[in-house]
Amino acid sequence: MTLNVGVIGVGMIGQDHIRRITHVVSGARISAVTDVDFDRAKAVAADLPAAKALQTGQELIDDPEVDAIVVASWGPTHEEYVLASIAAGKQVFCEKPLATTREACERILDAEVATGKRHVMVGFMRRYDEAYRAMKATITSGDIGAPLMFHSGHRNPNVPPHYTSDMIINDTCVHDVDVARFLLDDEIVSARVLTPRKNSLASDHLTDPVLFIFEMAGGALVDVEASINIQYAYDIRGEVVGESGTVELAETNKVVVKKGGQWGGRVAEDWRERFIRAYDTEFQEWIVAASKGESTGPSSWDGYAATVVCAAGLQAMESGERVEVSLREQPDLYKVTAQGPTGTD
Ligand SMILES: NC(=O)c1ccc[n+]([C@@H]2O[C@H](COP(=O)([O-])OP(=O)(O)OC[C@H]3O[C@@H](n4cnc5c(N)ncnc54)[C@H](O)[C@@H]3O)[C@@H](O)[C@H]2O)c1
Repeated sequence: MTLNVGVIGVGMIGQDHIRRITHVVSGARISAVTDVDFDRAKAVAADLPAAKALQTGQELIDDPEVDAIVVASWGPTHEEYVLASIAAGKQVFCEKPLATTREACERILDAEVATGKRHVMVGFMRRYDEAYRAMKATITSGDIGAPLMFHSGHRNPNVPPHYTSDMIINDTCVHDVDVARFLLDDEIVSARVLTPRKNSLASDHLTDPVLFIFEMAGGALVDVEASINIQYAYDIRGEVVGESGTVELAETNKVVVKKGGQWGGRVAEDWRERFIRAYDTEFQEWIVAASKGESTGPSSWDGYAATVVCAAGLQAMESGERVEVSLREQPDLYKVTAQGPTGTD
């Protein structure tokens, strides 16, 4: 069976996911696209063998030739489309964020729980990265003892002109928030943000770098060093310190170059290069699950937790205080059992 996918929002990441579904992974094709910029939707559809351009997201969700939906529009529009997809009984892949406020995420949780099964997967692609998966397997094996600390480094060479200081938490550190919860299999209960001397290469309106610190429910500590003008490359660092050992992300080079009395390798230019295979795996796993009417991977609960933690992080950055994070009680649908998440068919 070929899964017919409709894509809402065909900007940068929407078009990249269309390329991935059309040319890289198997089991799906694009049957419809939409965008508030309808000319853009028509231009994208014209390059695809089986896609039509539709005027609105609701029209796309209701279309009988759309089995499953990808939401890749701007963050504040995600809630509406995810709710409509759930109401239509269709599987939906939603780029991060799930929604931009705690209340909006809770409306999605309520709607999904009411159906009794998962419909939503959130685009936290680091969970599909081979290196993070190996790190998680090491932690889960018990080889390094209980995890005590996670040091995460998120270094961007530069950011676009529209980038604002809240984006260092909401758009950059949000990935570290999710991967910390994934690796440590625990919830974040408090957030604090410290700021060292400012990088003189950053624009006047930006706070850069930041040290975002979380306490986990089980007592582990996480520090995220986020830099957004570090020039040299896009460099993702990570080390978990356990009771009797450590596990860290290795350099990802296939070759080492030696010349002029030195040795070295490549550091990724940007996030697309660093995580390209993770995005491919993410989509392949979503297509396999969605073809069976199931969901997999990061859930609405994970999207909700990330949004709530980032809101606390922003509050902590403004106040300089430690801010507690409180989540509602986790519905059974999102509790992961040995057989996988509950509530799937
Ligand atoms: N997981 C990741 O690593 C990752 C990377 C990049 C972007 N994203 C997320 O993907 C989403 C899109 O980001 P982008 O960089 O592609 O942005 P973009 O501005 O390039 O594209 C967004 C597109 O959505 C369209 N759009 C906006 N509102 C709409 C609406 N109501 N209905 C239909 N179309 C609408 C815009 O016209 C535009 O074409 C954001 O939520 C962003 O945070 C995630």
